[in-house]
Amino acid sequence: MPPLVDRYDRRIGSLRLSVTDRCDLRCFYCIPEDIEWLPRKALMSFEEIERVVRLAVAGGIRRLRLTGGEPLLRKDLPRLVEKLARVEGLDDLALTTNATQLERLAGPLARAGLERVNVSLDSLDPARFHELTRRDVHAQVMRGIDAAEAAGLQPISLNCVVIRGRNDDEAPDFAGLARERGFDVRFIEFMPLEHGARWGTDVLVPGYELRERIDAVFPLRPDPERDPHAPSRDWVFADGAPGSVGFIDSVTEPFCSACNRIRLTADGKIRTCLFSLREHDLLGTLRAGASDEELAALLHGAVATKELKHNITDGLFIKPERTMSRIGG
Ligand code: 5AD
Ligand code: SF4
Repeated sequence: MPPLVDRYDRRIGSLRLSVTDRCDLRCFYCIPEDIEWLPRKALMSFEEIERVVRLAVAGGIRRLRLTGGEPLLRKDLPRLVEKLARVEGLDDLALTTNATQLERLAGPLARAGLERVNVSLDSLDPARFHELTRRDVHAQVMRGIDAAEAAGLQPISLNCVVIRGRNDDEAPDFAGLARERGFDVRFIEFMPLEHGARWGTDVLVPGYELRERIDAVFPLRPDPERDPHAPSRDWVFADGAPGSVGFIDSVTEPFCSACNRIRLTADGKIRTCLFSLREHDLLGTLRAGASDEELAALLHGAVATKELKHNITDGLFIKPERTMSRIGG
């Protein structure tokens, strides 16, 4: 298959694949308490996922990240990981999780061939974690992180979505934890993909502000090994302590021009941007009996529509109907 390249000459190398829309947390900005889940049969089966991943790899995808909802809620996930770890040509197989189920699953996932995990964690304070996620499971999440470390799923990244007045004061504490445990903490700007009308510049905390606050406590210097194509701008500690902090400034410093990702939702729709207003029904086409050539053509057609950039800050922005838990982050 010819490589997947979009109209702006961005070569697509990374696929984020959602394996379920379900989640056991209710992060206030993401999922309403009474959300309805997709019916089981709407989800891609493991066999369907494997077929699509093999095609994507033939088109130049090298990095695969499993997402949700909460991916660990998908039954038998280690069996899927085992299948995907065997796909030749994939350089990187990772997973984004809220870690509630990691204590039980870190070992089986590592043995199945998973390399790394990113843990979503918005607060280090148990009571505040409960407020933000509407579930009182902070200790369980911390045990999940310990289990991931013990299973060798390293380096561990923590993803923290920062919302002004809710958790922005914790940035130095997260940096302290990074130093103590050698974690890579990534602060993510809150994006207008939320449930309800919660986004606004009043609650958006620009990454540079967090960096200044951390630098005042733990002086930082740019990470010399930082990947210029990664969305995160990473910093290490000037005193040589382990760990790092990074800033994913999707709103204030968009990285669209370097974006090489596409996404596949749990119900098999290709999304070429987090903020896409249209989707491409790969699973529907596959289930209608399409050949590999026809599916490859659909992939190429979808990539050709990849958006130049998001328009969050220029007044043209239209919020997509799917919120993050149904896209996969
Ligand atoms: N803005 C930024 N990040 C978000 N996430 C969920 N919703 C949003 C949003 N509106 C994050 C989750 C998780 C990752 C998958 O996406 O907290 O870390
Ligand atoms: Fe679940 Fe992640 Fe959404 Fe929180 S942000 S409710 S952990 S999908």
